[in-house]
Amino acid sequence: MIGLGIVLSCWFSLIVVVRAVKAPSLRFQEHLAPVRRGETVPNEALFFDMPLDHFGNATGTFKNRYWVNDTYYKPGGPVFLFDSGEQNAEPLLPYYLQEYHGLSATMRLAKRYSGVAVLWEHRYYGDSLPFPVNENTTAEQWQFLTTDQALEDVVYFANRFTLHSARADASADTSSASNEITHNPLHPSNTPWIWLGGSYPGCRGALLRVRNPETIFAVWASSAPVHAQIDMASYYKAAERSLTRNCSADWVAVTRFVDDTLANGTAAEATNLKFKLLRAREDGITKEQAANASDESAAGVLMDPLNFYQVCV
Ligand SMILES: *[C@@H]1O[C@H](CO)[C@@H](O)[C@H](O)[C@H]1NC(C)=O
Ligand SMILES: *[C@@H]1O[C@H](CO)[C@@H](O)[C@H](O)[C@H]1NC(C)=O
Ligand SMILES: *[C@@H]1O[C@H](CO)[C@@H](O)[C@H](O)[C@H]1NC(C)=O
Ligand SMILES: *[C@@H]1O[C@H](CO)[C@@H](O)[C@H](O)[C@H]1NC(C)=O
Ligand SMILES: *[C@@H]1O[C@H](CO)[C@@H](O)[C@H](O)[C@H]1NC(C)=O
Ligand SMILES: *[C@@H]1O[C@H](CO)[C@@H](O)[C@H](O)[C@H]1NC(C)=O
Repeated sequence: MIGLGIVLSCWFSLIVVVRAVKAPSLRFQEHLAPVRRGETVPNEALFFDMPLDHFGNATGTFKNRYWVNDTYYKPGGPVFLFDSGEQNAEPLLPYYLQEYHGLSATMRLAKRYSGVAVLWEHRYYGDSLPFPVNENTTAEQWQFLTTDQALEDVVYFANRFTLHSARADASADTSSASNEITHNPLHPSNTPWIWLGGSYPGCRGALLRVRNPETIFAVWASSAPVHAQIDMASYYKAAERSLTRNCSADWVAVTRFVDDTLANGTAAEATNLKFKLLRAREDGITKEQAANASDESAAGVLMDPLNFYQVCV
């Protein structure tokens, strides 16, 4: 099927970034009901000085954003880090770190094991920006958005995070690095760091557990796509199978029509169809933009309902 070769996989994180700029993202977290002001207690974002380049000789740091909830923490307890992956992490805060809709897995574990909960934001997303991210971001600037750099961020953070550094009153921490490891009960050598994440963040967790077992003690890798595959139609077939028969027959018929028109129709028919498809997703689109869009991006609109379907059932 045309367009369905786009696989949900961590290997394509850069593609996800680029698409997030151009088309509305369908990550379900972005559709959470807005939290009304005053309904959760303030939890100020914290910023960690992160090296831009962990492996090369480019210098400089950027502010990597994260949040902490130590409500349930007791000395000796572990760290539960929820990775928000390829999105602005801020809208997740009430749900994952504050139990706005009841216990999240992260807070449930923190409560049970008297741990600290951390919400982590991925470099190049939200406010964790080494450079402004928009249509003008250059290849020079994108080069530091790699799987390895973004994994090493968390290793680097875990080795330096203290509850003191996370608290506003923690001004005078002058101990040396080696002292800090010995005296910091939250250093990975002293207490387990447990990673939680789904989809790309699940993939990240699985990779990190293998890559840095000395830092990451355990991972809850939910729906982690650890095996890259070009044609991943089976992902949508599962949703199609669970639709009512009539509805899935309609969906298959529409897909055949789109495939046929794009492959065998006249240029005008193809453009007209692309326009209709893309307009279903985005109101303001012009016919000229539709004509310029690739077959894959236009046919990709057919995936939208099924992308939602994965989280609605
Ligand atoms: C690191 O520095 C060397 C020597 O100055 C230079 O040749 C090389 O290109 C640099 N590497 C990176 C990744 O910037
Ligand atoms: C921490 O979590 C508890 C339990 O969900 C919640 O009541 C509290 O508001 C949270 N605190 C902060 C600062 O996020
Ligand atoms: C990108 O660069 C162009 C040309 O300099 C400028 O007009 C535009 O505002 C820039 N876009 C953003 C988002 O900064
Ligand atoms: C599904 O049902 C609707 C209304 O009941 C009907 O119009 C449509 O043709 C059916 N689709 C297929 C593919 O049978
Ligand atoms: C395009 O037309 C050819 C010849 O009729 C047909 O074999 C092929 O399946 C069509 N392609 C699509 C995608 O429908
Ligand atoms: C469509 O593509 C043509 C040729 O590449 C280009 O001149 C034009 O600006 C594009 N239009 C839009 C709306 O992107």
